[in-house]
Amino acid sequence: MAAKIARYHTLPASWWVSEKIYELEKRAIFSKSWILTMHSSRFTKTGDYFRIDIAGFPIILIHGKDGTIQAFHNVCRHRAYPIVNKEFGNSLVLGCKYHGWSYDTKGSLIKAPGFETVPNFDKSVNGLFKVATHTTRQGLIFVNFDSTPNITPFHEFYKGLEDEMDEFDFGEFEYVESWQQDGEFNWKTLLDGYNECYHCPTAHPSFSKVIQVPTYQVEPRHNYARHSAEVVVPDSNAKSTMVESKPAGSSWSSWLGFPSSASIDQSSIKIDELGGDKPGLWLSLFPLNGMNCYSYAWYYMRLVPKSAGRTVLEYDIFARKGEDPVKVREFIRFLKEVEIEDYDLCTLTQKNLKNGVYGTGQLHPDKENGVLYYQNLTNEFVMSHLELEKAAGEQILPAFAGLEAMNEEGKGTDKICKQLECGIHGSDILSW
Ligand code: FES
Ligand SMILES: [Fe+2]
Repeated sequence: MAAKIARYHTLPASWWVSEKIYELEKRAIFSKSWILTMHSSRFTKTGDYFRIDIAGFPIILIHGKDGTIQAFHNVCRHRAYPIVNKEFGNSLVLGCKYHGWSYDTKGSLIKAPGFETVPNFDKSVNGLFKVATHTTRQGLIFVNFDSTPNITPFHEFYKGLEDEMDEFDFGEFEYVESWQQDGEFNWKTLLDGYNECYHCPTAHPSFSKVIQVPTYQVEPRHNYARHSAEVVVPDSNAKSTMVESKPAGSSWSSWLGFPSSASIDQSSIKIDELGGDKPGLWLSLFPLNGMNCYSYAWYYMRLVPKSAGRTVLEYDIFARKGEDPVKVREFIRFLKEVEIEDYDLCTLTQKNLKNGVYGTGQLHPDKENGVLYYQNLTNEFVMSHLELEKAAGEQILPAFAGLEAMNEEGKGTDKICKQLECGIHGSDILSW
Protein backbone atom coordinates (compact mmCIF):
# COMPACT_ATOMS: atom_id res chain seq x y z
CA MET A 1 0.00 0.00 0.00
CA ALA A 2 1.42 3.38 -0.98
CA ALA A 3 2.38 5.70 1.85
CA LYS A 4 0.33 8.89 2.08
CA ILE A 5 2.11 12.18 2.45
CA ALA A 6 2.04 13.82 5.85
CA ARG A 7 -1.40 15.27 6.52
CA TYR A 8 -1.76 18.82 5.21
CA HIS A 9 1.83 19.11 4.07
CA THR A 10 3.15 19.40 0.56
CA LEU A 11 5.39 16.76 -0.91
CA PRO A 12 9.07 17.64 -0.44
CA ALA A 13 10.57 20.22 -2.80
CA SER A 14 12.94 17.62 -4.24
CA TRP A 15 9.93 16.17 -6.11
CA TRP A 16 9.71 19.39 -8.10
CA VAL A 17 13.37 19.47 -9.12
CA SER A 18 14.77 15.95 -9.35
CA GLU A 19 15.17 14.56 -12.88
CA LYS A 20 15.09 11.04 -11.44
CA ILE A 21 11.72 11.69 -9.81
CA TYR A 22 10.54 13.15 -13.12
CA GLU A 23 11.60 9.99 -14.98
CA LEU A 24 9.85 7.91 -12.34
CA GLU A 25 6.70 10.05 -12.72
CA LYS A 26 6.87 9.42 -16.44
CA ARG A 27 6.82 5.66 -15.87
CA ALA A 28 4.44 5.67 -12.89
CA ILE A 29 1.97 8.40 -13.84
CA PHE A 30 2.19 9.62 -17.43
CA SER A 31 2.55 6.08 -18.80
CA LYS A 32 -0.46 4.76 -16.88
CA SER A 33 -3.03 7.57 -16.85
CA TRP A 34 -5.63 8.77 -19.30
CA ILE A 35 -4.56 12.12 -20.70
CA LEU A 36 -6.72 14.58 -22.63
CA THR A 37 -5.27 15.47 -26.00
CA MET A 38 -7.76 17.39 -28.15
CA HIS A 39 -11.40 17.82 -29.06
CA SER A 40 -12.59 15.86 -32.09
CA SER A 41 -14.05 19.00 -33.72
CA ARG A 42 -10.48 19.95 -34.61
CA PHE A 43 -10.57 17.12 -37.16
CA THR A 44 -12.85 17.91 -40.05
CA LYS A 45 -11.80 15.51 -42.85
CA THR A 46 -10.52 11.99 -43.27
CA GLY A 47 -6.74 12.14 -43.11
CA ASP A 48 -6.57 15.21 -40.84
CA TYR A 49 -3.74 14.68 -38.40
CA PHE A 50 -2.00 16.51 -35.56
CA ARG A 51 1.40 15.88 -34.07
CA ILE A 52 1.50 16.52 -30.35
CA ASP A 53 3.82 15.68 -27.51
CA ILE A 54 2.65 14.31 -24.19
CA ALA A 55 5.28 14.06 -21.46
CA GLY A 56 8.05 13.17 -23.86
CA PHE A 57 5.93 10.83 -25.98
CA PRO A 58 5.47 12.36 -29.44
CA ILE A 59 2.26 11.07 -30.97
CA ILE A 60 0.16 11.41 -34.11
CA LEU A 61 -3.61 11.73 -33.89
CA ILE A 62 -5.27 10.95 -37.21
CA HIS A 63 -8.84 10.89 -38.48
CA GLY A 64 -9.20 7.54 -40.23
CA LYS A 65 -11.43 6.42 -43.07
CA ASP A 66 -13.75 4.72 -40.58
CA GLY A 67 -14.46 8.10 -38.94
CA THR A 68 -12.59 7.35 -35.73
CA ILE A 69 -9.55 9.20 -34.45
CA GLN A 70 -6.61 6.95 -33.73
CA ALA A 71 -3.34 7.68 -31.98
CA PHE A 72 0.10 6.33 -32.84
CA HIS A 73 3.56 6.90 -31.49
CA ASN A 74 5.35 9.17 -33.94
CA VAL A 75 8.09 6.61 -34.34
CA CYS A 76 8.87 4.72 -37.52
CA ARG A 77 8.96 0.97 -37.00
CA HIS A 78 12.05 0.72 -39.19
CA ARG A 79 14.72 2.77 -37.43
CA ALA A 80 12.66 5.10 -35.21
CA TYR A 81 12.69 8.31 -37.25
CA PRO A 82 9.61 10.51 -36.67
CA ILE A 83 6.92 9.77 -39.24
CA VAL A 84 5.35 13.20 -39.13
CA ASN A 85 7.30 16.41 -38.75
CA LYS A 86 4.63 19.00 -39.50
CA GLU A 87 2.44 20.10 -36.59
CA PHE A 88 -0.70 19.21 -38.50
CA GLY A 89 -1.79 18.29 -42.00
CA ASN A 90 -3.94 16.01 -44.08
CA SER A 91 -2.85 12.76 -45.67
CA LEU A 92 -4.15 9.24 -46.13
CA VAL A 93 -0.58 7.94 -46.22
CA LEU A 94 2.02 8.68 -43.58
CA GLY A 95 5.43 8.37 -45.19
CA CYS A 96 8.72 8.27 -43.33
CA LYS A 97 11.32 10.62 -44.79
CA TYR A 98 14.29 8.47 -43.77
CA HIS A 99 14.02 5.33 -45.92
CA GLY A 100 10.53 5.71 -47.31
CA TRP A 101 8.42 3.28 -45.30
CA SER A 102 4.78 4.33 -45.39
CA TYR A 103 1.69 3.63 -43.33
CA ASP A 104 -2.07 4.06 -43.78
CA THR A 105 -4.43 5.82 -41.37
CA LYS A 106 -4.81 2.59 -39.38
CA GLY A 107 -1.04 2.57 -38.83
CA SER A 108 -0.54 -0.49 -41.04
CA LEU A 109 2.70 -0.65 -42.98
CA ILE A 110 1.84 -0.45 -46.67
CA LYS A 111 5.25 0.07 -48.26
CA ALA A 112 8.82 -0.78 -47.27
CA PRO A 113 11.01 -0.09 -50.32
CA GLY A 114 13.31 -2.95 -51.22
CA PHE A 115 11.97 -5.31 -48.57
CA GLU A 116 10.00 -7.32 -51.17
CA THR A 117 13.09 -9.47 -51.58
CA VAL A 118 13.84 -9.92 -47.88
CA PRO A 119 12.89 -13.46 -46.79
CA ASN A 120 10.28 -13.72 -44.02
CA PHE A 121 9.74 -9.95 -43.79
CA ASP A 122 6.24 -9.53 -42.39
CA LYS A 123 4.59 -6.18 -43.01
CA SER A 124 1.72 -7.04 -40.70
CA VAL A 125 3.93 -6.96 -37.60
CA ASN A 126 5.63 -3.71 -38.55
CA GLY A 127 2.73 -1.28 -38.22
CA LEU A 128 2.97 1.90 -36.15
CA PHE A 129 2.77 1.50 -32.39
CA LYS A 130 -0.82 2.21 -31.46
CA VAL A 131 -1.65 4.32 -28.43
CA ALA A 132 -4.89 3.47 -26.60
CA THR A 133 -7.60 6.10 -27.07
CA HIS A 134 -10.99 6.85 -25.64
CA THR A 135 -13.15 9.47 -27.30
CA THR A 136 -15.95 10.50 -25.00
CA ARG A 137 -19.45 11.07 -26.35
CA GLN A 138 -18.68 14.79 -25.98
CA GLY A 139 -15.80 14.38 -28.44
CA LEU A 140 -12.89 14.66 -26.02
CA ILE A 141 -10.02 12.44 -27.08
CA PHE A 142 -8.00 10.83 -24.30
CA VAL A 143 -4.92 8.66 -24.70
CA ASN A 144 -3.21 6.17 -22.43
CA PHE A 145 0.37 5.06 -23.12
CA ASP A 146 0.10 1.85 -21.11
CA SER A 147 0.85 -0.85 -23.67
CA THR A 148 0.44 -3.70 -21.18
CA PRO A 149 -2.66 -5.80 -20.46
CA ASN A 150 -2.85 -3.95 -17.10
CA ILE A 151 -4.09 -0.74 -18.69
CA THR A 152 -6.84 0.82 -16.55
CA PRO A 153 -10.08 1.20 -18.52
CA PHE A 154 -11.11 4.85 -19.03
CA HIS A 155 -14.30 4.60 -17.00
CA GLU A 156 -12.45 3.02 -14.12
CA PHE A 157 -9.76 5.68 -14.15
CA TYR A 158 -12.16 8.64 -14.44
CA LYS A 159 -15.24 7.16 -12.79
CA GLY A 160 -18.23 9.45 -13.48
CA LEU A 161 -16.34 11.99 -15.58
CA GLU A 162 -18.05 11.31 -18.91
CA ASP A 163 -21.49 11.57 -17.30
CA GLU A 164 -20.55 14.77 -15.50
CA MET A 165 -19.38 16.34 -18.76
CA ASP A 166 -22.88 15.85 -20.22
CA GLU A 167 -23.81 19.03 -18.38
CA PHE A 168 -22.11 21.01 -21.11
CA ASP A 169 -23.10 21.02 -24.77
CA PHE A 170 -19.73 20.86 -26.53
CA GLY A 171 -21.47 20.56 -29.91
CA GLU A 172 -22.55 24.20 -29.69
CA PHE A 173 -18.96 25.41 -29.87
CA GLU A 174 -16.31 25.80 -32.51
CA TYR A 175 -12.53 26.03 -32.37
CA VAL A 176 -11.11 29.55 -32.28
CA GLU A 177 -7.41 29.41 -31.56
CA SER A 178 -4.58 27.75 -29.70
CA TRP A 179 -2.13 29.31 -27.33
CA GLN A 180 1.13 28.07 -25.89
CA GLN A 181 3.52 29.09 -23.12
CA ASP A 182 6.90 27.60 -22.39
CA GLY A 183 7.43 27.49 -18.64
CA GLU A 184 10.59 27.01 -16.65
CA PHE A 185 8.89 25.06 -13.93
CA ASN A 186 7.78 21.56 -12.99
CA TRP A 187 4.35 20.34 -14.11
CA LYS A 188 3.29 20.13 -10.45
CA THR A 189 4.21 23.76 -9.82
CA LEU A 190 1.46 24.78 -12.21
CA LEU A 191 -1.02 22.26 -10.83
CA ASP A 192 -0.40 23.42 -7.27
CA GLY A 193 -1.87 26.77 -8.18
CA TYR A 194 -4.48 25.32 -10.53
CA ASN A 195 -6.03 23.28 -7.73
CA GLU A 196 -6.83 26.08 -5.32
CA CYS A 197 -8.17 29.61 -5.32
CA TYR A 198 -6.59 30.55 -2.00
CA HIS A 199 -4.19 32.64 -4.09
CA CYS A 200 -6.93 34.40 -6.06
CA PRO A 201 -7.39 37.55 -3.95
CA THR A 202 -3.67 38.30 -3.96
CA ALA A 203 -2.66 37.00 -7.39
CA HIS A 204 -5.79 37.40 -9.57
CA PRO A 205 -7.37 40.74 -8.70
CA SER A 206 -9.62 40.83 -11.77
CA PHE A 207 -10.78 37.23 -11.50
CA SER A 208 -11.52 37.78 -7.82
CA LYS A 209 -14.00 40.47 -8.73
CA VAL A 210 -16.21 38.14 -10.76
CA ILE A 211 -16.37 35.20 -8.37
CA GLN A 212 -17.18 35.04 -4.69
CA VAL A 213 -13.75 33.78 -3.66
CA PRO A 214 -14.84 32.52 -0.19
CA THR A 215 -17.31 30.17 -1.92
CA TYR A 216 -14.64 28.58 -4.15
CA GLN A 217 -14.69 24.83 -3.71
CA VAL A 218 -12.71 21.90 -5.05
CA GLU A 219 -14.56 18.60 -4.86
CA PRO A 220 -12.30 15.59 -5.42
CA ARG A 221 -13.90 12.85 -7.55
CA HIS A 222 -12.05 9.92 -9.08
CA ASN A 223 -8.68 11.10 -10.43
CA TYR A 224 -10.30 14.41 -11.21
CA ALA A 225 -11.79 17.29 -9.27
CA ARG A 226 -14.72 19.59 -9.88
CA HIS A 227 -14.16 23.26 -9.10
CA SER A 228 -16.99 25.66 -8.42
CA ALA A 229 -17.69 29.09 -7.01
CA GLU A 230 -20.59 31.44 -6.77
CA VAL A 231 -20.28 34.23 -9.26
CA VAL A 232 -20.78 37.92 -8.65
CA VAL A 233 -24.18 38.69 -10.10
CA PRO A 234 -24.20 42.07 -11.77
CA ASP A 235 -27.35 43.78 -10.54
CA SER A 236 -28.37 47.35 -10.23
CA ASN A 237 -27.10 47.54 -6.68
CA ALA A 238 -23.80 45.75 -7.12
CA LYS A 239 -22.37 46.81 -10.40
CA SER A 240 -19.73 49.09 -9.00
CA THR A 241 -16.28 47.47 -8.86
CA MET A 242 -16.81 45.03 -11.66
CA VAL A 243 -18.12 47.49 -14.16
CA GLU A 244 -15.69 50.21 -13.24
CA SER A 245 -12.66 47.97 -13.58
CA LYS A 246 -13.46 46.67 -17.01
CA PRO A 247 -11.99 48.10 -20.15
CA ALA A 248 -14.34 50.16 -22.28
CA GLY A 249 -16.79 48.10 -24.30
CA SER A 250 -16.39 44.82 -22.46
CA SER A 251 -17.24 43.14 -19.23
CA TRP A 252 -15.18 40.85 -17.07
CA SER A 253 -18.31 39.07 -16.05
CA SER A 254 -19.53 38.25 -19.53
CA TRP A 255 -17.27 35.25 -20.06
CA LEU A 256 -18.54 33.67 -16.87
CA GLY A 257 -21.92 33.42 -18.49
CA PHE A 258 -23.43 36.81 -18.04
CA PRO A 259 -24.43 39.02 -20.90
CA SER A 260 -22.36 42.17 -21.17
CA SER A 261 -23.34 44.46 -18.33
CA ALA A 262 -23.17 47.42 -20.66
CA SER A 263 -25.81 46.02 -23.00
CA ILE A 264 -28.53 44.79 -20.68
CA ASP A 265 -30.78 45.86 -17.90
CA GLN A 266 -28.75 44.39 -15.05
CA SER A 267 -31.63 44.35 -12.61
CA SER A 268 -33.37 41.78 -14.83
CA ILE A 269 -30.71 39.06 -14.51
CA LYS A 270 -31.71 36.05 -12.47
CA ILE A 271 -29.17 33.48 -11.49
CA ASP A 272 -31.30 30.53 -12.60
CA GLU A 273 -31.30 31.93 -16.12
CA LEU A 274 -27.57 31.55 -16.14
CA GLY A 275 -27.34 27.83 -15.66
CA GLY A 276 -27.80 27.54 -11.90
CA ASP A 277 -25.60 28.80 -9.15
CA LYS A 278 -22.39 27.64 -10.82
CA PRO A 279 -20.71 29.54 -13.60
CA GLY A 280 -19.90 26.47 -15.64
CA LEU A 281 -18.00 23.24 -15.68
CA TRP A 282 -14.51 23.62 -14.26
CA LEU A 283 -12.51 20.43 -14.06
CA SER A 284 -9.01 19.52 -13.05
CA LEU A 285 -8.06 16.17 -14.57
CA PHE A 286 -5.16 14.33 -12.96
CA PRO A 287 -2.43 14.29 -14.10
CA LEU A 288 -2.04 16.83 -16.89
CA ASN A 289 -5.24 18.62 -17.87
CA GLY A 290 -7.67 21.31 -16.92
CA MET A 291 -10.97 22.19 -18.61
CA ASN A 292 -13.00 25.32 -18.08
CA CYS A 293 -16.39 25.58 -19.75
CA TYR A 294 -18.48 28.70 -19.64
CA SER A 295 -21.58 29.93 -21.43
CA TYR A 296 -19.79 31.64 -24.29
CA ALA A 297 -16.57 29.73 -24.56
CA TRP A 298 -14.56 26.86 -23.20
CA TYR A 299 -10.97 25.70 -23.29
CA TYR A 300 -8.75 22.89 -22.18
CA MET A 301 -5.21 23.04 -20.97
CA ARG A 302 -2.70 20.38 -21.88
CA LEU A 303 0.39 20.38 -19.71
CA VAL A 304 3.36 19.01 -21.59
CA PRO A 305 6.13 18.18 -19.15
CA LYS A 306 9.55 18.25 -20.84
CA SER A 307 11.79 17.73 -17.83
CA ALA A 308 11.71 18.29 -14.06
CA GLY A 309 12.20 22.00 -14.62
CA ARG A 310 10.37 22.66 -17.86
CA THR A 311 6.70 22.40 -18.82
CA VAL A 312 4.92 23.66 -21.92
CA LEU A 313 1.35 24.82 -21.42
CA GLU A 314 -0.95 24.37 -24.42
CA TYR A 315 -4.48 25.68 -24.69
CA ASP A 316 -7.18 25.14 -27.31
CA ILE A 317 -9.98 27.66 -27.11
CA PHE A 318 -13.54 27.20 -28.42
CA ALA A 319 -16.37 29.74 -28.65
CA ARG A 320 -20.12 29.37 -29.01
CA LYS A 321 -21.01 29.22 -32.69
CA GLY A 322 -22.10 32.60 -33.98
CA GLU A 323 -20.87 34.38 -30.87
CA ASP A 324 -20.05 38.07 -31.03
CA PRO A 325 -16.33 38.20 -31.97
CA VAL A 326 -15.80 41.07 -29.52
CA LYS A 327 -16.98 38.88 -26.68
CA VAL A 328 -14.76 36.04 -27.85
CA ARG A 329 -11.73 38.37 -27.97
CA GLU A 330 -12.59 39.53 -24.47
CA PHE A 331 -12.75 35.96 -23.21
CA ILE A 332 -9.38 35.11 -24.70
CA ARG A 333 -7.80 38.24 -23.31
CA PHE A 334 -9.21 37.50 -19.89
CA LEU A 335 -8.06 33.89 -20.04
CA LYS A 336 -4.55 34.95 -20.98
CA GLU A 337 -4.42 37.56 -18.26
CA VAL A 338 -5.28 35.00 -15.57
CA GLU A 339 -2.98 32.34 -17.03
CA ILE A 340 -0.05 34.76 -17.27
CA GLU A 341 -0.56 35.69 -13.63
CA ASP A 342 -0.28 31.98 -12.77
CA TYR A 343 2.69 31.53 -15.08
CA ASP A 344 4.62 34.29 -13.29
CA LEU A 345 3.83 32.75 -9.89
CA CYS A 346 5.14 29.39 -11.09
CA THR A 347 8.38 30.76 -12.55
CA LEU A 348 9.47 32.39 -9.32
CA THR A 349 8.20 29.59 -7.09
CA GLN A 350 10.19 27.02 -9.07
CA LYS A 351 13.39 29.03 -8.59
CA ASN A 352 12.93 28.82 -4.83
CA LEU A 353 11.91 25.16 -4.86
CA LYS A 354 15.27 24.28 -6.33
CA ASN A 355 17.52 26.53 -4.27
CA GLY A 356 17.96 23.99 -1.50
CA VAL A 357 16.33 25.96 1.32
CA TYR A 358 12.65 25.03 1.29
CA GLY A 359 11.48 21.52 2.22
CA THR A 360 7.72 21.23 2.67
CA GLY A 361 4.92 23.64 3.47
CA GLN A 362 1.69 23.56 5.44
CA LEU A 363 -1.50 23.35 3.39
CA HIS A 364 -4.86 24.75 4.44
CA PRO A 365 -7.16 21.74 4.95
CA ASP A 366 -10.12 23.35 3.19
CA LYS A 367 -8.78 26.09 0.93
CA GLU A 368 -6.01 23.84 -0.42
CA ASN A 369 -7.76 20.48 -0.29
CA GLY A 370 -7.41 20.21 -4.08
CA VAL A 371 -3.62 20.56 -3.83
CA LEU A 372 -3.52 17.88 -1.17
CA TYR A 373 -5.76 15.64 -3.30
CA TYR A 374 -3.59 15.72 -6.41
CA GLN A 375 -0.29 15.60 -4.50
CA ASN A 376 -1.62 12.49 -2.73
CA LEU A 377 -2.47 11.00 -6.11
CA THR A 378 1.03 11.80 -7.36
CA ASN A 379 2.54 10.14 -4.33
CA GLU A 380 0.32 7.08 -4.56
CA PHE A 381 1.00 6.49 -8.26
CA VAL A 382 4.74 6.90 -7.78
CA MET A 383 5.04 4.78 -4.64
CA SER A 384 2.98 1.90 -5.96
CA HIS A 385 4.97 1.81 -9.20
CA LEU A 386 8.21 1.93 -7.26
CA GLU A 387 7.08 -1.10 -5.26
CA LEU A 388 6.54 -2.99 -8.51
CA GLU A 389 9.99 -2.00 -9.76
CA LYS A 390 11.62 -3.05 -6.51
CA ALA A 391 9.90 -6.41 -6.71
CA ALA A 392 10.94 -6.83 -10.34
CA GLY A 393 14.49 -5.64 -9.71
CA GLU A 394 14.37 -3.42 -12.77
CA GLN A 395 12.62 -0.44 -14.23
CA ILE A 396 9.11 -1.04 -15.51
CA LEU A 397 8.19 1.04 -18.54
CA PRO A 398 4.47 0.58 -19.23
CA ALA A 399 4.73 2.64 -22.44
CA PHE A 400 7.42 0.43 -23.89
CA ALA A 401 5.64 -0.88 -26.96
CA GLY A 402 8.66 -2.49 -28.57
CA LEU A 403 8.93 -5.53 -26.33
CA GLU A 404 6.67 -7.75 -28.41
CA ALA A 405 8.80 -7.32 -31.49
CA MET A 406 12.04 -8.12 -29.67
CA ASN A 407 13.61 -11.52 -29.95
CA GLU A 408 14.95 -13.31 -26.87
CA GLU A 409 18.46 -12.05 -27.47
CA GLY A 410 17.23 -8.45 -27.64
CA LYS A 411 15.20 -8.88 -24.43
CA GLY A 412 18.27 -10.14 -22.59
CA THR A 413 20.42 -7.26 -23.78
CA ASP A 414 17.67 -4.77 -22.87
CA LYS A 415 17.39 -6.23 -19.36
CA ILE A 416 21.02 -5.38 -18.63
CA CYS A 417 20.30 -1.75 -19.36
CA LYS A 418 17.14 -1.60 -17.24
CA GLN A 419 18.95 -3.13 -14.28
CA LEU A 420 21.81 -0.66 -14.59
CA GLU A 421 19.28 2.18 -14.56
CA CYS A 422 17.75 0.79 -11.37
CA GLY A 423 20.98 0.72 -9.42
CA ILE A 424 21.74 -2.96 -9.81
CA HIS A 425 25.38 -3.72 -10.64
CA GLY A 426 26.65 -0.81 -8.56
CA SER A 427 24.92 2.15 -10.14
CA ASP A 428 22.94 4.34 -7.75
CA ILE A 429 20.73 5.95 -10.33
CA LEU A 430 17.46 5.27 -8.56
CA SER A 431 18.94 4.72 -5.08
CA TRP A 432 16.12 2.58 -3.71
S1 FES B 1 13.39 5.07 -40.20
FE1 FES B 1 11.57 5.28 -41.27
S2 FES B 1 11.94 4.32 -43.13
FE2 FES B 1 13.74 4.02 -42.04
FE1 LIG C 1 -4.21 30.98 -10.48
